[in-house]
Amino acid sequence: MPVVDVNTKLVGLLGNPLGHSFSPAMHNKAFETLGLNYFYLPIEVTADDLPTVAAGIAKMNFAGYNITIPHKIRIMDCLDAIDPLAQAIGAVNTVVLEKGHATGYNTDGEGFVRSLEAESGMTVDGKRYFILGSGGAARAIAMTLAFKGAQKIFLCNRTEQKAHDLAVEINTKVSPCSEVVPRDPARMASAVQQADVLINTTSIGMHPEEDRIPIESDLIPAGVIVSDIVYNPARTKLLQVAEAKGCKTVPGLGMLVYQGTEGFRKWTEAEPPVEVMFEVVRALKG
Ligand code: ATR
Repeated sequence: MPVVDVNTKLVGLLGNPLGHSFSPAMHNKAFETLGLNYFYLPIEVTADDLPTVAAGIAKMNFAGYNITIPHKIRIMDCLDAIDPLAQAIGAVNTVVLEKGHATGYNTDGEGFVRSLEAESGMTVDGKRYFILGSGGAARAIAMTLAFKGAQKIFLCNRTEQKAHDLAVEINTKVSPCSEVVPRDPARMASAVQQADVLINTTSIGMHPEEDRIPIESDLIPAGVIVSDIVYNPARTKLLQVAEAKGCKTVPGLGMLVYQGTEGFRKWTEAEPPVEVMFEVVRALKG
């Protein structure tokens, strides 16, 4: 147990219910590894209490906090400033406090990008992406890719209207790079063939439905990089099928760890011990 004293900088995790999160163990181990007098603290807070708690935290010895379900949108009304990418995404998962001034960021998409770049060796700008799904995670990823200079973002979703709405937002708020692909095999095949990276942001393939795959395997071309944000199991059926075709694959655990490393960097201004953070999350996942 670390020593918490009057000089300790606290970092919170605000959500409800919090259930089991990897973040406290991951950040506390990282603080300990670097010898930083910080402590990461889960705080369950109801939607009604969120403004009061956020205002109280801003007056205390907190360096900042993470926000998780269901407060990522509502917290935006409790902050002094919002980073342009978080504003475009429309959700905040990380807050930095400086002398009581609260700034909101969204590191989910940045976490995805760091993981993709680290594990595939590519850089994201100027590339073409095919994204399965158009929910909250797809939104963070697609907006971040557009901010970072994606040449093309194809969006394909069960509910096509949601893909359409997201594409319009990307095209008007960031750059006109996004296009909706109907869930028709021929249209999907044509778009995936143009893509450098195929990304699954749906929950298809997640435990306990490990046998499911979000796209027909014969629609996956051999040359595409395949990324799945599902991290349980570590190697989803999509990734296994893609590997068998010789594709480079990027598992979902990296996005989870790197969204945390980006918060860590902002709160401490120190270089996060990435490998230590991966080890903690791998051990907790079992
Ligand atoms: P998250 O925050 O993880 O992105 P979400 O906002 O609920 O979660 O989005 C889930 C995404 O997975 C959506 O794109 C959803 O499709 P719909 O918009 O049609 O609901 C997609 N998804 C979930 N289950 C699915 C399924 N069985 N088949 C196809 N798509 C599915």
